[in-house]
Amino acid sequence: MSLDPVLTRIDEDLPAAMDRLFDLLRIPSISTDPAYKADCERAADWLVADLASFGIEASKRPTPGHPMVMGHVKGDGPHVLFYGHYDVQPVDPLELWDRDPFDPQIEDTPKGRVIRGRGSSDDKGQLMTFVEACRAWKAEHGALPCSITFFFEGEEESGSPSLLPFLEENANELKADVALICDTGLFESKVPSIMTQLRGLCGEEIILTGPDKDLHSGMYGGAAMNPLRVLTRILGNLHDDQGRIQVPHFYDGVPDLPEDIAAQWDALGFDHGAFLGDVGLSAPAGEQDKTPLEMIWSRPTAEINGMIGGYTGDGFKTVLPSKASAKVSFRLVGQQDPHAIRKNFRAWVEAQLPSDVTVSFKEHGASPAGQMQTTHPAFEAARGVLGAEWGHEAAFTGCGGSIPVAGYFKTILGMDTMLVGWAKDDDQIHSPNEKYDVESFHKGIRSWARILDAIAG
Ligand code: BES
Ligand code: ZN
Repeated sequence: MSLDPVLTRIDEDLPAAMDRLFDLLRIPSISTDPAYKADCERAADWLVADLASFGIEASKRPTPGHPMVMGHVKGDGPHVLFYGHYDVQPVDPLELWDRDPFDPQIEDTPKGRVIRGRGSSDDKGQLMTFVEACRAWKAEHGALPCSITFFFEGEEESGSPSLLPFLEENANELKADVALICDTGLFESKVPSIMTQLRGLCGEEIILTGPDKDLHSGMYGGAAMNPLRVLTRILGNLHDDQGRIQVPHFYDGVPDLPEDIAAQWDALGFDHGAFLGDVGLSAPAGEQDKTPLEMIWSRPTAEINGMIGGYTGDGFKTVLPSKASAKVSFRLVGQQDPHAIRKNFRAWVEAQLPSDVTVSFKEHGASPAGQMQTTHPAFEAARGVLGAEWGHEAAFTGCGGSIPVAGYFKTILGMDTMLVGWAKDDDQIHSPNEKYDVESFHKGIRSWARILDAIAG
């Protein structure tokens, strides 16, 4: 089966492929917010129907949370599993969007044509690049070059609570020669990148309670302890002035960067100034003896993702709040143990509480960092063909984000994972005005067609 007519078909079918993606983007499948539960079901149904429309045996699988979608098709070559997620991040702050996040549209921008809408990049647009590549193979040759298992999750953006048990219960059905994930991006928005490591994540919510009700800060201020004062002091202690994290044993299991990886990264010629400059910054905020690239790829972090407490509405209110809370997350590397981090963080917070202030914690997901096995033949196969599509030889890179499933594929299914994706740094994933370049979508589909061909040999 030859590749060229598949690529031609992809080019011709692009407008229809975009229409299909737009249908999926119109479904507000926000996994973290229970108000969108039915929409998550709808997105799963849409995917089942779309896979079935070109002959994939597909079904929706219930979980205690949002459903998984699975599909199977037999081909001649090796057996690959493709993973993507159909859930998206919440859209707030909604007022910062220039249009309805779930009414996608094509926009012409100075940097080219983009598809605007929540999930256009993360991860519906990316997921559909693989589906469209398969559709084109099937349409052109009546068959696929590899056996393929499709596996779509609807809880990736909310910590994948149902994933582990699902993988354990369906291990036999999911097992393949290699897993492919399209949920990452191009290096510096132009070089095709195969990501060889992912950071882990530990999410934690802290809720502090002081007085048993909100108080007038004139009547009680000075005498009553304010939980926001306690919270900000504790969170202010998270980093020292060199950017190092102060939680005891936090750095246990953090490896030094191996020399060969450091050399590989150096050779990429990462533009540190532009990286921060593009988002209006200039001074790297992490550990001061590390480069920005190390800070995002090989070092762990502690971030305050949100704080709640007191009066935050318009105008002003002299309140002394009863409660204050914060959502904190840690990105993890190497052998750092998310459960140990959680335990040590909680003890560290408790040790800093003054009298009259109590704390409760809420757990929000934990996954260790992942290291990919680049010796699997799929890596060379992909590297060999991506250059022809993008005009740059593909690079092996790190990744600052977290995709918990990649680690589980290895530990539970004994399967290696290859991460490739077509997102750009300015896609504004998780942010207002998310977009996906039409170029990413189009070349992404063509790239998958090439990769499948190369893996099939
Ligand atoms: N697609 C991202 C992961 C990603 C981010 C890859 C940046 C490359 C660059 C993914 O959907 C994501 O955001 N994952 C969450 C996982 C978390 C909720 C467990 C993340 O990294 O915050
Ligand atoms: Zn994603």
